[in-house]
Amino acid sequence: MTYKVLVLKGDGIGPEVVSEAVQVLKVVARRCGVDFNFEEAIVGGAAIDAYGVPLRPETLKLATESDAVLFGAVGGPKWDDPRAAHRPEQALLTLRKELGLYANLRPVKTMKELASASPLKPEVINGTDLLVLRELTGGLYYGKPSERRTTEKGREAVDTCFYTEEEIARAVRLGFELARARRKRLTLVDKANILSTSRLWREVATEISQQNKDVAFETVLVDAMAMHLLQRPKDFDVIVTENMFGDILTDEASLLAGSMGLLPSASLGEELNSAGYRIGLYEPIHGTAPDIAGRDRANPLAAILSAAMMLEYSFGMRAEAEWIENAVAAVLREGYRTPDLASPGAKIVGCKAMGRLVREHLERMEPES
Ligand code: IPM
Ligand code: MG
Repeated sequence: MTYKVLVLKGDGIGPEVVSEAVQVLKVVARRCGVDFNFEEAIVGGAAIDAYGVPLRPETLKLATESDAVLFGAVGGPKWDDPRAAHRPEQALLTLRKELGLYANLRPVKTMKELASASPLKPEVINGTDLLVLRELTGGLYYGKPSERRTTEKGREAVDTCFYTEEEIARAVRLGFELARARRKRLTLVDKANILSTSRLWREVATEISQQNKDVAFETVLVDAMAMHLLQRPKDFDVIVTENMFGDILTDEASLLAGSMGLLPSASLGEELNSAGYRIGLYEPIHGTAPDIAGRDRANPLAAILSAAMMLEYSFGMRAEAEWIENAVAAVLREGYRTPDLASPGAKIVGCKAMGRLVREHLERMEPES
């Protein structure tokens, strides 16, 4: 089997972390009898510099013709002018919308070895294993109008939160499906005491829960959830929520794992690829970290774990994904850490060395099938 993978490294630390992930996929290809045909294109700030736009139509076309997309990160101070006509982040928003990637899966697991890297108490976070399903193509990110105006009273701006019943239902249904394969608990996070869209989310999710009675269903208000996530993270299994709440809560949840540099994500659509699985875009949840870009200090593990999610969700290679996860865990157990996870006694390594350590472990271990 040959799969087409589009590699979009982006800005800042994107290129260095994605390079390590690509090299991991090459080991998988060699050991597991699959072939990845990697194509690469420029996106984000780098594309604004080179072509004047964050995402060229050619690149979008390449993405739609690929079996999966591996993405780094986009943005940086250089392109931060709020009045600029083009912003690097538009590349990501357009890709998500045009590829129909409505479900953003962000797993958060606490590893005992890393508990000391979190500012939270080990007894609170140890054993956390949750999955946030963030709706990714609706809500405030895409609602119209979204604009800034000047009236005689001064400047004003508006953003619109909009959801259809079908957009909500497909995310919630996938949430139940995922929960069924895990610990069978689903938490809907909303702001139903204030927002009409949240009340619709709650209504639709409650209806769908009636057909999924084997999964325990609860609703939690987003402000309370911001607290519960830090107070009792172990109580949650699958958390489903709208776009903006999911964006905010997953940065918060990254503290449970120790560092943003560890958290991968998968953005899935309904369309199937040549392998018969969902097309997807896979990216670390961290940003471009311009302060450490190009200095071999970034943590490539989130990008490597995103490549593992690609194997699982877009190619049906669950055993191989686990093989990578186990290699990452083994390297961390041996005490190797990138600077973001530095703790007393840790063996500090750079981005490249961390990637190499993971690959060395893969070479020594067998993929289980
Ligand atoms: C994320 C990021 C993006 C988002 C930005 C870069 C557009 O914060 O993936 O969480 O807000 O969705
Ligand atoms: Mg974010």
